[in-house]
Amino acid sequence: LNYHVPRTRRDILEILLKGLRRLEYRGYDSAGVGIDGGNGKEWESNAKSIQLIKQRGKVKALDEEINKQQDIDLDVEFDVHLGIAHTRWATHGVPSPVNSHPQRSDKSNEFIVIHNGIITNYKDLRKFLESKGYEFESETDTETIAKLVKYMYDNRESDDINFATLVERVTQQLEGAFALVFKSVHYPGEAIKFFIDLLIAVVQEGKSHSCALPFFSVFSAGKDKKSCSALPRTDQDTCLFPVDEKAVEYYFASDASAVIEHTNRVIFLEDDDVAAVMDGRLSIHRIKRKTGDYPARAIQTLQMELQQIMKGNYSSFMQKEIFEQPESVVNTMRGRINFDNNTVTLGGLKDHIKEIQRCRRLILIACGTSYHAGVATRQVLEELTELPVMVELASDFLDRNTPVFRDDVCFFISQSGETADSLLALRYCKERGALTVGITNTVGSSISRETDCGVHINAGPEVGVASTKAYTSQFVALIMFALLMCDDRISMQPRRREIIQGLRVLPDLIKEVLSLDDEIQKLATELYQQKSVLIMGRGYHYATCLEGALKIKEITYMHSEGILAGELKHGPLALVDKLMPVIMIIMRDHTYTKCQNALQQVVARQGRPIVVCDKDDYETIKNSSRTIKVPHCVDCLQGILSVIPLQLLSFHLAVLRGYDVDCPRNLAKSVTVE
Ligand code: G6P
Repeated sequence: LNYHVPRTRRDILEILLKGLRRLEYRGYDSAGVGIDGGNGKEWESNAKSIQLIKQRGKVKALDEEINKQQDIDLDVEFDVHLGIAHTRWATHGVPSPVNSHPQRSDKSNEFIVIHNGIITNYKDLRKFLESKGYEFESETDTETIAKLVKYMYDNRESDDINFATLVERVTQQLEGAFALVFKSVHYPGEAIKFFIDLLIAVVQEGKSHSCALPFFSVFSAGKDKKSCSALPRTDQDTCLFPVDEKAVEYYFASDASAVIEHTNRVIFLEDDDVAAVMDGRLSIHRIKRKTGDYPARAIQTLQMELQQIMKGNYSSFMQKEIFEQPESVVNTMRGRINFDNNTVTLGGLKDHIKEIQRCRRLILIACGTSYHAGVATRQVLEELTELPVMVELASDFLDRNTPVFRDDVCFFISQSGETADSLLALRYCKERGALTVGITNTVGSSISRETDCGVHINAGPEVGVASTKAYTSQFVALIMFALLMCDDRISMQPRRREIIQGLRVLPDLIKEVLSLDDEIQKLATELYQQKSVLIMGRGYHYATCLEGALKIKEITYMHSEGILAGELKHGPLALVDKLMPVIMIIMRDHTYTKCQNALQQVVARQGRPIVVCDKDDYETIKNSSRTIKVPHCVDCLQGILSVIPLQLLSFHLAVLRGYDVDCPRNLAKSVTVE
């Protein structure tokens, strides 16, 4: 609601679409908006109808669809307005306008809802609602929510049931994981948002009103707002957010990057929170009464600049993020490593480090690239902590019902901090009494909130779906943890010093690797029409092989496999012939001789491998038809330098093949469903 700056419908749609574009990286197979529909002068009567516009494809396609609409007057002015919008990544039902969000209760759009997550009992709910005469139009789980809210409204016991209570009742019937935003013609100017993974941005009086976000509603607090006790529902209601007297507008969003250009003042909601806005007042309540006190939801200030999320001079976010790595690794280390006296401080672990040192094993749990960061650092973690270290894919860890004990320490590595499998694994480990540690890039994310302690990798927002700078920063964060674990072990000091001094020069060495970009682009022109690429290595570089192959698969759609060179003779060698593109990682570390053997085996099968090697490893250079020469650094950090050529290669291959580097088909940045 906006009482201060009247806006046209065109402005409002622009705000919504701009917000959607910001969050498009979270999913982008379709998009939709729901706005007040009337064309009259009074906002309340305009809000008595809702206009839905939805389209398959990217936000651009929705924008074009809006411009085709004949029956909406884009110039009509609103004093007060509330709109919601969503960009979808399909889980139930193919991408199509009808399956896009907002989903509606009925043909006259009495209630509309947008949803992140999954409703696991939607089939039962749908059956029930169909038995009551509701006709479903989509294949989505979300549509059951829209129908259910109307069912509850139509069957309300009294006319003065408020929107928040209605929504609470609906959510009590839902199983699964969900963040929801509702809008209704019965509650003009009100929005309700519920549950995890959402934040509210608070815009102060006098700040610009332009722009916004997906999962989004805009409205203001009017001049006369008092406190959230103005919105009581039951006697036991706990008010968790006293109204900010200065707020003029609120934005609900699923990610801070969508709101940061308006304000850096945000409130993170917790599971089971219901936030409601009515007459410009915001209130936050808890849906289920659990024992214990809940701290009030405070406004937090985010340290994030808009330019951090813009592309700058790069052709894609991924390219920008690859080239940001000299700075992003510095940001991961900033204030944490003293290179003069070789000490490491991790504020987020300080209260738990003694307990961690006493544990019986470390379990690193993650998905995708974050899992590879665990594989990459496992050896140095084992070496410096002298503890057994398991590295687990979150989904498989859960499938196996892996035994977890109270004296285990479980790490959850996640760029987004929202990956559903990792989050479920976290809850699984917590239930079993293990200490949980988050390694995330997203302050306020579910994983960072739900773990007992952790390290933020501070790599800055990562927008490209294919993760790059988050990987190298996760790598550095895990190494810092390993260093911290052995800081009082005298026998470890020479090794600690060697690694810390390696970290000191790392940013310059990364720059040197990035200067190979032209050479790698040339290599890509030779490879981009191939169907397959094998990447082989061992020891510290097995993770590089896995991660390099993942990058190639994700954005070039070529087949690629990361192969442990030690397993070559046990199968993969059969794939090698003179036509098969092979990349080998051979670095001067304790596996060097074995890697040379692997090189000989490949060459003996007429393979012509491209070898990523130390720039002064003349023997390998002499024996290889093609090399990518990277600077040498301490063995356990070398994986950071060996992966960057593969990040660059995948990027150039994708560009040459004509694909959208930042938004690969079928993939999303943040996978919030199992
Ligand atoms: C998705 C992304 C990957 C990412 C993985 C884990 O699959 O496309 O790039 O590595 O999720 O994400 P997380 O945010 O938990 O690191």
